[in-house]
Amino acid sequence: MNDLAGKHIVLGLSGGIACYKAADLCRAMVKESATVQVVMTQAAEQFITPVTMQALSNRPVYGSQWDAREPNNMPHINLSREADAILIAPCSADFMARLLHGSADELLSLMCLARPVAQVPLLLAPAMNREMWAHPATQRNMAQISADGAHILGVGSGFQACGETGDGRMLEPAELLEDLVAFFQPKTMVGLRVLVTAGPTFEPIDPIRGITNHSSGKMGFAVAKAAREAGAQVTLVAGPVSLTTPRGVERVDVGSAQQMLDATLAQAPSADVFIATAAVADWRPASPSGQKIKKDGSGRAPVLAFAENPDILATVAQGERARSGQLFCVGFAAETHDLVTHARAKLARKGIPLIVGNIGPLTFGEDDNQLLLVDQFGTQELPRASKIALARTLVAEISRRLHRTVPPAG
Ligand code: C5P
Repeated sequence: MNDLAGKHIVLGLSGGIACYKAADLCRAMVKESATVQVVMTQAAEQFITPVTMQALSNRPVYGSQWDAREPNNMPHINLSREADAILIAPCSADFMARLLHGSADELLSLMCLARPVAQVPLLLAPAMNREMWAHPATQRNMAQISADGAHILGVGSGFQACGETGDGRMLEPAELLEDLVAFFQPKTMVGLRVLVTAGPTFEPIDPIRGITNHSSGKMGFAVAKAAREAGAQVTLVAGPVSLTTPRGVERVDVGSAQQMLDATLAQAPSADVFIATAAVADWRPASPSGQKIKKDGSGRAPVLAFAENPDILATVAQGERARSGQLFCVGFAAETHDLVTHARAKLARKGIPLIVGNIGPLTFGEDDNQLLLVDQFGTQELPRASKIALARTLVAEISRRLHRTVPPAG
């Protein structure tokens, strides 16, 4: 829970009903260890009080460019110089128009204008009625503000406070937090398409029952999230898990290993990186029954025959794209013992450049893990940490190998 540790965020509120969500956002940022300095326009103070925002941010709120608390009486300079980023949430249509013109007659717009553009990024979370959002003036303003260097985080769609339904709602606090955390991650995978498999597979015995395993999918979802944060276009082929799809990731849900293979092969021709984190069942019932297998009262249990499942990773790694060097394949090895030996054997057997070893019982269902990267040059331990922290390091290691910027670890 410290994705924003060491970051100082200026949270600007302009006038809009979405100000009530800014309270939650502020709290969420503080929980992630950011320091948050709130600046509010007068219009924002009509929707939520500075008292609430001060209590949540644990700092006095600024609202006036004439605030005499600053010894030099220049809050617009002081506040903008110490920020790692300025996030305006909600950013009203009027505030966008003010940014466009470089207005500077109240503290928040003055501070945005006074910020050192190269050092202090400006992120905007628009919030407005759908007609205001769709209006050519707003769209035009937004295009120009983007061209001037602001990052527009997009809007949500759905029911609006005015009673209408459409685009223009402010993104939810959790979504904004995810975007803000992602914003600070190194963009090592921009322009790459990354394909990830995750979770267990489910091999049907009959329409009611099946065989699966304890994989939670958490590691694979973290890898997909980390690749997206690094700027990649990510497709996540997920077995049956109950996890939220990381923001900006395209998800394809599958059940059996055969379905996972089909979905993976459909995506692989356009992928640059394939990361197989899924715990694919090795075998499936050879002939699943079309109807529920019933007890017949005899006390005899049905005898199941098994067939071996296709090896998704090996199939992709043997394909033309991987063999010609256009697709970088990464496998996972979940073992209970002799991790290095088994991982090395798997590297050769699957014909892949990188394998990530972990101890099965220490990772399944857990929020943290420890990894061992094994390639032809050697091994590298990633000590116990949260799965998202490990996934970010893994993504950096994959990028390093793709771009060959640094000598291999060993
Ligand atoms: O062969 P083994 O299951 O130990 O290899 C594990 C690696 O291979 C993981 O990356 C897993 O996602 C992948 N795999 C696969 N298809 C299978 C079995 C494993 O893609 N049928």
